[in-house]
Amino acid sequence: METLVLEPVGVLHPVLQKLPDFLVRRLIRRDVASQLRYLYGLSAEEQLQGLVNFVQNAKQMPVMEAGGSFRDELYDVDFFKLLLGKHLKYSCLLYEDPSFTDEQAEEAMFKLCCDRARIEDGQRILDLGGGYGGLVMYIAQKFPSCQITSIADSRVQTEHIREECRKRGLVNVEAIDCDITSTKITQNFDRIFCIGVFEHMTNYQKFMKIVSNLMNEGGLFFVEHPCHKLFAYRTVILAKAFCFFASLLPGNRMLADALPLYFQDDFVILDHWRVNGTHQGRSCEAWMRNLDAKFDQVHALFAKAYGEDKASKRLGGFRSNLLLGTEMFNFNNGEEWFVSHKLFQKRL
Ligand SMILES: C[S@@+](CC[C@H](N)C(=O)[O-])C[C@H]1O[C@@H](n2cnc3c(N)ncnc32)[C@H](O)[C@@H]1O
Repeated sequence: METLVLEPVGVLHPVLQKLPDFLVRRLIRRDVASQLRYLYGLSAEEQLQGLVNFVQNAKQMPVMEAGGSFRDELYDVDFFKLLLGKHLKYSCLLYEDPSFTDEQAEEAMFKLCCDRARIEDGQRILDLGGGYGGLVMYIAQKFPSCQITSIADSRVQTEHIREECRKRGLVNVEAIDCDITSTKITQNFDRIFCIGVFEHMTNYQKFMKIVSNLMNEGGLFFVEHPCHKLFAYRTVILAKAFCFFASLLPGNRMLADALPLYFQDDFVILDHWRVNGTHQGRSCEAWMRNLDAKFDQVHALFAKAYGEDKASKRLGGFRSNLLLGTEMFNFNNGEEWFVSHKLFQKRL
């Protein structure tokens, strides 16, 4: 069964990293427009068939492909402190008011996710792929009777959370370093968040089963993932040199907004929202600004992690990804690619 396949946009070519940003942005927009012309040029039947094929293929896959997470990438907290906002949120920020600072936009998205996930004091909550713990610490402060657990497959992240919680006197947070696809965790939760993680999976059916086994009866599962409005597709990577593209499109897959709705064996969908793509676009832009402002420090960290010779190339690739994210999510005023929020309830 064929999945829709697209070529990556040209910005991934290392030579393009040497061009001024305004030109690269123009090239990205041109490539993105041509991808969309191709996709919208398909008949309605072909468009749907592409999505259904993607769904059927996913069911044959392992729950996650090797290297599908960030395990191999630089997960140095010093780097993320230079790159991200105060709460180290590495997913879409919400610029609810255009005058918001990045820190306010991080907090606005935490609040929106908690409201939509119907968080109440006293619940047992899991943040699956919780990164550097911004959300769990936000909940721990706002809802002191909640017991909150963060799982991530990164020791650096879990150690950072433990350390921050110690400093802030938060006793209701636990951070566990494990791979969710093979977890032996036996606790059950009332709420599970999955923010910026679903798209790293390859078999969404198996993944939903894993999540469902961690939930109490009637528990709610909140998912946030980047997507295209209609199309799920794979991007063919032409050369290893472009591997940083994976951080924008894990496994080189772009999800369609509707895709997770095809995997409701263990859950039923209760609610569904869209967050306009310009919020993700502005988040990428903010991270790129930080990267540029602290370029020398970031370069030194990359040189330490990858060696002097590879540092510039990897950093250039990382920056290109942010540029690509900015232009892609801002395209057509954020109405093509955006962030989807979904609330599922565990089936009884
Ligand atoms: C894009 S980050 C998002 C982090 C966080 N949710 C946020 O919004 O800032 C993806 C997170 O998923 C985690 N992750 C990816 N695959 C995982 C797996 N198989 N098991 C556990 N954590 C995983 C990574 O370690 C990282 O914390």
